[in-house]
Amino acid sequence: MIIAIDGPAGSGKSSTAKAVAQQLGFHHLDSGAFYRALTHAALSAGLPADAWESLTVSALKALNIDSEPTEDGHRFTMNGQDITSSIRSPEVNAHVSHMARVPAVRDWLLGQLRSAGSECDLVADGRDIGTVVFPGAELKIFLTADPAVRARRRLLERGIQPNDDELLLEADRLGQRDRIDSEREIAPLRQAYDAIVLDTSDLSPAEQTARIVDLARSRGAS
Ligand code: CDP
Repeated sequence: MIIAIDGPAGSGKSSTAKAVAQQLGFHHLDSGAFYRALTHAALSAGLPADAWESLTVSALKALNIDSEPTEDGHRFTMNGQDITSSIRSPEVNAHVSHMARVPAVRDWLLGQLRSAGSECDLVADGRDIGTVVFPGAELKIFLTADPAVRARRRLLERGIQPNDDELLLEADRLGQRDRIDSEREIAPLRQAYDAIVLDTSDLSPAEQTARIVDLARSRGAS
């Protein structure tokens, strides 16, 4: 069984997907982490962001990134060095949507994500999971929340007790990323026609996890 969770930045996809996977005994595939690892690698290799659009698959392979599944998701290396803890930096946040719209990147990662998800029960989260990566998923969730709520959660996650100015700035950063993700030509952020929308603005992490687990059980997960 595949559960696809898509939605805008900071809507809680990854943490929810992880908790749902734990409760159901499924694997968790955080597709955004793959786009983030590539972004971190391109930035550390000094590839200028305005030239990413023309990156080829062989240029991507030359970055020498590897991934392996762990109990907690995936571990990423670049030239053998662990880069897992670097992929959520503010710098990667600011650039990842530019990497994610590059045609060679989408093409290359599509194959990798599909094979990471073959032959096991899976909760996968991202932007195009229910529309492109696993269009046959048995359960599709589109997770949303108010921009201000998403911004607050993102800052709290980083240990920042935000004031109003910081909230506005963060909401703006998330909004810019959503715009690029929604407007790109290949695999844009879209709600699949058969997705169930879950607005988490007023839900706790435990509540949103329980809703999805219940839906999955009603569709045959044990
Ligand atoms: O956790 P957050 O919502 O901040 O983002 P993420 O899931 O880690 O994804 C980071 C970025 O990767 C997104 O803003 C998209 O640009 C890209 N992405 C994508 O294009 N397609 C996916 N299936 C997953 C992520």
